[in-house]
Amino acid sequence: MALIFGIESSCDETSAAIVCDGREVLSNVVATQHELHREYGGVVPEIASRAHLERLWPVVDGAIRQAGLERETAGQAIDAVAVGNRPGLIGSLLVGVAAAKALAWAWDKPLIGVDHIEAHLHAASLAGDEIAMPAVGLVVSGGHTSLFFMESATSIRLMGRTIDDAVGEAFDKAASILGLGYPGGPIVDQRAASGNEKAHRFPVAAVGDRECLDFSYSGLKTSLLYAVRGKPVGRGKDARFERDFTQFNMAEIDDFCASFQRAAVKAVIRNTRLAIELLREQHGVGVKSLVVGGGVSANSRLRNEMRKLTSDLGLALRLPAMEYCLDNAAMIAGYAWHRLAAGDSDALSLSPWPSGEYVEL
Ligand code: KG4
Ligand code: ZN
Repeated sequence: MALIFGIESSCDETSAAIVCDGREVLSNVVATQHELHREYGGVVPEIASRAHLERLWPVVDGAIRQAGLERETAGQAIDAVAVGNRPGLIGSLLVGVAAAKALAWAWDKPLIGVDHIEAHLHAASLAGDEIAMPAVGLVVSGGHTSLFFMESATSIRLMGRTIDDAVGEAFDKAASILGLGYPGGPIVDQRAASGNEKAHRFPVAAVGDRECLDFSYSGLKTSLLYAVRGKPVGRGKDARFERDFTQFNMAEIDDFCASFQRAAVKAVIRNTRLAIELLREQHGVGVKSLVVGGGVSANSRLRNEMRKLTSDLGLALRLPAMEYCLDNAAMIAGYAWHRLAAGDSDALSLSPWPSGEYVEL
């Protein structure tokens, strides 16, 4: 039995967790900063790193207590300290990495740095069964839209990613264009439930040829912008629009949400199906599971469409429980357990890194 203490601070959630043997969550404390960034309509890096500094130690303390341990003796029960050290906002990552190093040093336990995106792929196995491999992994979040081939828990290779906006970012921008709040994804999801998804035809972008699994969301965002505000007069900063969201009633805003969400989800489903087909056709790989992670995996339409896709293809669908869709430290500790089990750890000189490095398939 191994207990891993995990820390997550890559963006605007400060989190600490204790996870046993990769899947049993003993504690998971998350402090979100949404209220601090709301008035800016997006995460402000400097505000985020300062807020991490203020919140980190109370969150660490909370995770220790929630697991039924004491601050003075917790170190004896813990087998390793894990931290998401890449990718993310560098100032935010620095706070979590420094704290993880301090704990690993004080407790005299191994330190394990993990990739935040790969960790999202392990959120679905928290408080659940092991994932049947090989699998296709999809990470849909505010910063990433990526497809992976998972040969095993730690052998993960990139198959496609967004060339511009991430799908969660597109949801957030759509909400801002429609005068809804921040973060926009959950609000658009909710409003879409009472809208007509066929009211507007928004483009479902295809990048490259059939074998290209990359995504593009900037065209969809611009189509929504023009549908709401009309075509701009002038260019760049001088561009002026003929109207804005205030010209539309509640039902019309719901229709925009439903039509936007339909197109955004369609692109994800299409590329995911294609990834599974290409693995079979070109690599002779019969995928057993589809694993989804990241904030947008909380989206109701995406969850339904994924259920349809996997029942159609006869695969196991692994969606995270709602509490593990958004950024959390339990997924960091869960993923790190696989590295610890393989006898792998990092030196105390571990650095935070703004980008991730993925081997392409
Ligand atoms: O994984 P996450 O917490 O942070 C990143 O690593 O980026 O994802 C946050 C993103 C935000 O863009 C948010 O709007 C989106 O997930 N999101 C949703 C939903 N819930 C959160 N998007 C669509 N539908 C939802 N229900
Ligand atoms: Zn994330």
